[in-house]
Amino acid sequence: MTRVRFMEVVIVADAAAGAEIVGGAIARLIAARPDTVLGLATGSTPLPVYDDLVRRCDAGEVSFAQAKGFALDEYVGLPQGHPESYRAVLDREIVGRVDFAPDAVLTPDGWAPDPAAACAAYDRAIADAGGIDLQILGVGTDGHIGFNEPTSSLASPTRIKTLTEQTRVDNARFFDDDIAQVPHHVLTQGIGTILRARHLVLLAWGSNKAEAVAATVEGPVTSMVPSSALHLHPHATVVVDEPAAQQLRLSDYYRHVYDNKPQWQGL
Ligand code: GLP
Repeated sequence: MTRVRFMEVVIVADAAAGAEIVGGAIARLIAARPDTVLGLATGSTPLPVYDDLVRRCDAGEVSFAQAKGFALDEYVGLPQGHPESYRAVLDREIVGRVDFAPDAVLTPDGWAPDPAAACAAYDRAIADAGGIDLQILGVGTDGHIGFNEPTSSLASPTRIKTLTEQTRVDNARFFDDDIAQVPHHVLTQGIGTILRARHLVLLAWGSNKAEAVAATVEGPVTSMVPSSALHLHPHATVVVDEPAAQQLRLSDYYRHVYDNKPQWQGL
């Protein structure tokens, strides 16, 4: 069934409630199509969803044995195997905790001698896999998705980017609070790449994301707020907790829409 719905905002009490909704939707997707292709995000935001999926996998409710995955992004310049490389983070947080087949989850090759070629190969690999069915997204405090910083082209492919100082400050907590250890460069799926996924699910928890969420949902579509590109997608779901929703002017309306949503529609 084709479902053209555009952006939906789901306001939940807390991250655990959001994770239950998103984990359930992913489990149903995989039950219907075991060879589902997932887009996997890093950062702290998706962790409750990954915990939910691990629980469902342990309970025999979902199997990733035929599924594939693609990471959103990767640092450039970290030593191979660095625990904060997104390859290592994804292996630790989700891939190694469920029953993905070996090599079923790819990350952009942040160690490639030719980063441009590695980025082009990554977009080809996504296309060869049939495209991403459901892409999980977090959002940076400046509205970045993946590592597409403000002014990223809304049509961008996977490519190398230079991080803003704000993002390096935000991510220093993963590097002993030492900004000097945070790489300057990354490979990231482009916004154009992200928009080709069939369903985008952006998650945000906590009041420090409230401004970015309001700009995403209620601001103009602009490259200054990369997450606002979700308005260009036919099936984007924004799942936020109460603190992250606090700057939304139409929050009552979003609640009303969700409360009265036909059940057959799913997420
Ligand atoms: C990083 C990641 C993004 C993530 C963002 C927010 O920059 N590349 O994919 O959305 O951080 O991080 P957190 O979820 O920890 O707030």
